[in-house]
Amino acid sequence: MVKIGNIQLPAFPLLLAPMEDVSDPPFRAVCKDNGADLMYTEFISSEGLIRDAIKSRKKLDIFDYERPVGIQIFGGDEESLSLAARIVDVTNPDLLDINFGCPVKKVALKGAGAGVLKDIDLMVRLTDAVVKSTRLPVTVKTRLGWDDNSRNIEEVAERLQDVGIQALAIHGRTRAQMYKGEADWSLIGKVKNNPRIRIPIFGNGDIDSPEKALTYGNRYGVDGVMIGRAAIGYPWIFREIKHYIATGEHLPPPTIEERIEVCKKHLHRSLEWKGPIVGIFEMRRHYANYLKGMPNIKEYRARLVTLMAVEEIDAVLDEIVIHYSGFEFQKSAIELIDYHQNCPL
Ligand SMILES: Cc1cc2nc3c(=O)[nH]c(=O)nc-3n(C[C@H](O)[C@H](O)[C@H](O)COP(=O)(O)O)c2cc1C
Repeated sequence: MVKIGNIQLPAFPLLLAPMEDVSDPPFRAVCKDNGADLMYTEFISSEGLIRDAIKSRKKLDIFDYERPVGIQIFGGDEESLSLAARIVDVTNPDLLDINFGCPVKKVALKGAGAGVLKDIDLMVRLTDAVVKSTRLPVTVKTRLGWDDNSRNIEEVAERLQDVGIQALAIHGRTRAQMYKGEADWSLIGKVKNNPRIRIPIFGNGDIDSPEKALTYGNRYGVDGVMIGRAAIGYPWIFREIKHYIATGEHLPPPTIEERIEVCKKHLHRSLEWKGPIVGIFEMRRHYANYLKGMPNIKEYRARLVTLMAVEEIDAVLDEIVIHYSGFEFQKSAIELIDYHQNCPL
């Protein structure tokens, strides 16, 4: 068993990574159904929370069925982060996570997210301020360092533990790498194997199969793994990893019926949470992911992303089930999209 404060997680928990514009309540609901043990909100700007920006406030929505769930905030200023922590406290998540990993310019070059990796003293002060402003367990998610010359995660881990964080998730890349190359887990393993480190260490970066989750878990000794891109359009990754670890066998991939059922649940939750117009629009980016690996799917996809009535979208999804009934998916329907090229984070 793994413990973060009073939160009890199973041995080798599988965490759903925080992902902006992806890990909202509708997406989290389908990941929870499929075995995610701990989930996080998208990152939320501390300044936005303080200004009471509607977009930031909306991201605080969490539901009892998703517990344990963490709210993630980012910022580069002690006072704003403390105030934001107090706001988060009231919404009663299970934990509060600080993002010191976001590499995008609008965040990192303004001294927040991974920008804080350039100044460890500042990172310690910010974290200390948050820990002192909330009764929640505080955790941190970060990268190996700013660039290859400053891969300082070992020092970061010790110093953040000393000011009271209760778990650390490490993405095995530097800020300079963005999403390029392969994640390097060897430093993550070093942090985990440092005898001074008592808090759970979660490894993150490129986990996209049951074999990889198990191999990396064993090789680097981490307490659990955090999964991001491989869960997009494929929330079954969690249950597949669990089954493989428990039995050494692969679960068969989800059938077309299951895929469409989950896609529909995602759609309907999206409408409930975002309303009929935004819910329809924001769901459009997900269809391609759910339908990945299906031949000649273009025409259906084109219809799905133009329709505005949910009944019509449901009808197209039903047509897809009939058309592809019995279709056997290739095992490798999961692909890690290269977000370096075309994605905000
Ligand atoms: C679309 C997208 C949005 C992301 N948003 C966040 C975020 O809000 N907070 C955060 O800490 N990391 C964010 N990340 C980084 C992921 O949490 C994760 O560290 C990264 O994708 C590596 O894990 P993976 O290889 O399993 O995808 C985002 C990643 C993607 C692809």
